[in-house]
Amino acid sequence: MYRIIYKSRSVKPLDWDIVKSIMSESEKRNEACGVTGVLLASRTHFLQTLEGKFEDVNAVFRRIARDDRHEELNLIGFSVVDARLFGGWGMRGIGAFDFNLNIEAELKHKYGEEEGGIRFPLEEWQALAMINDIKMIRELPDWKK
Ligand SMILES: Cc1cc2nc3c(=O)[nH]c(=O)nc-3n(C[C@H](O)[C@H](O)[C@H](O)COP(=O)(O)O)c2cc1C
Repeated sequence: MYRIIYKSRSVKPLDWDIVKSIMSESEKRNEACGVTGVLLASRTHFLQTLEGKFEDVNAVFRRIARDDRHEELNLIGFSVVDARLFGGWGMRGIGAFDFNLNIEAELKHKYGEEEGGIRFPLEEWQALAMINDIKMIRELPDWKK
């Protein structure tokens, strides 16, 4: 089992409709090859994890890397892992612009700011910590603005 993590910049400002449409076009393909993970979006950047078999995460990543809806793609991590961290999620899209103001302030304090939003880290351990924080926050009843 392998995990790829990358960060990229969107060519246009992100909103939930864009994230939703990427998710809906990816769903069947990811399901067919058993690739799961999370796609995090701020107003300006994406941070995505892809978990699955070596050939499958590579094939999905190759397609994503060619996509002209984003640029400045940085590979943050490519590791062998014992198990999926985000297996129960399918491929979950999350808008980091959707959090309530207190939570947004906490995350900015912890991970820094980037162009007015929460900074997506380039360090693998920080990226994983942030996704875990966000996973927990999403389970709270009042995470939305
Ligand atoms: C930020 C971002 C994340 C994406 N994530 C996935 C994904 O997890 N799975 C997937 O099949 N396509 C994903 N896509 C879409 C692919 O880039 C690509 O458009 C799609 O797989 C069709 O590829 P094809 O035209 O080469 O067949 C993503 C696109 C972007 C911009």
